Amino acid sequence: MGENSISGDPVFYVDCDPGIDDALALIYLIKCHADLRGIGAVAGNVAVDQAAENARRWLALTGRPDIPVAVGRQEPMTGEFWGGAQWIHGPNGFAGLDLPPSQTPTDHMAAAERLVATAHEIGSRLHIIALGPLTNIAVALAIDETLPETVGAITIMGGAHLVPGNVSPHAEANIFADPVAASQVFSAPWRNLTLVPLDITNNHSLSRADVDLLQTASTDPAVQLAATMLAYYLDRHPEFDHSKCLLHDPLAAAIALGSVSLNESPSCTISVETDGEHRGRTLVTFDEDASPDTSASRHRIALSATADFGPLLMSALLPNAQTLREPDAQIISLPSCP
Ligand code: RIB
Ligand code: CA
Repeated sequence: MGENSISGDPVFYVDCDPGIDDALALIYLIKCHADLRGIGAVAGNVAVDQAAENARRWLALTGRPDIPVAVGRQEPMTGEFWGGAQWIHGPNGFAGLDLPPSQTPTDHMAAAERLVATAHEIGSRLHIIALGPLTNIAVALAIDETLPETVGAITIMGGAHLVPGNVSPHAEANIFADPVAASQVFSAPWRNLTLVPLDITNNHSLSRADVDLLQTASTDPAVQLAATMLAYYLDRHPEFDHSKCLLHDPLAAAIALGSVSLNESPSCTISVETDGEHRGRTLVTFDEDASPDTSASRHRIALSATADFGPLLMSALLPNAQTLREPDAQIISLPSCP
C-alpha cells in the first residue's frame, strides 16, 4: 500500500446513489465534522434524479444545505440503467419516506465536471468517496486523465473478493450496475485507492435493538428518520432474519475518514468482468502473487478491520447515550468519532 497521499487535512467529495446506507454514510461524515465539499449523484439504487433529490433533502435535514449536489449520469458507460434496488431501499430510495423539500438548488455543473473542478481546486488534499456505481468517476477520468495523480485518495464501496455477490452469485451491486466504469476506474493510476468490498462490509451491522434505540432515544429528526429507514431495510432482509442492517456505505466512509483502521488491506490490482454470466465480478491479483517484474500497486483491498464499526456509528448518531449492546445488559461506553 502506498504512503498516505493526502497532504494536509483531507477534504471529501462523495459520489453516491442514496439509498438508505448512502444516507447513513453522509450523516456519519457530517456528525464527525468531516470537511465535505460536494456530493455527486449517480443512478444506482434509484434513478439519478431521485438520487440527487434524496441527497439534497437529506443534506438539508442533517443541517448541511450548504453542500452542493451535482447530478451525474443515469446510464452506465455501456448498456442501460440496471433498474435500481427498490426491493431493498424502497420505491424512492428512502423507504418511501417523503422528506421535507430542500431550498438548495442543484449544482449547475454535472457531477463528473464538478469532481474534476473540485480536484483542481483542492489538489492532493481531496479524498473521493465512491458509494454507488462508478459511472461519474469514469466520466471524470475521460474528461481529465490527470485526475488519479491530482487527488490524494479514492475509497470505493464495491466488489466481492471471496464472498458471493449480492445481486448475482458473482457481483456486488455497484460494480454490477456499471462494470465498464468500474474496470476503467480500477485500471487508472490512482495514488491511493482502497476498495471496500462485501468481504468486509458483510461483517459490520446494526441490530434491530440498535435501530429501536435510535428511534426512541434520539431527539434529532434526521436520526429518527434514519431509524425509520433502517427499520424498513431490516424488514427487507429475511436472509438475516430481519435482525441486522449491513453497513456497506457508512463503513467505507469511516475507512476513508480514518475512524476505522484496517487489519488486512493487501496491495493488489483489481479487474472486472464486464459482461456475460460473471458480469460485475471483481478479480484481485495480490502484489505478493504477481510476477517479480510487476511494480508495486498503490491500490489495496480492505478485508478486515481492527474493530466493530457498529458501536462507532451508534456513538456518532447518539453521542450522549450509552447503549445496551451486550445481551447481559452490560452498559459500555462507546467510542467517539475521530
Ligand atoms: O452493494 C451495496 C452497495 O450497493 C451500497 O453502496 C448500496 O447503497 C448500493 O449502492
Ligand atoms: Ca450506495
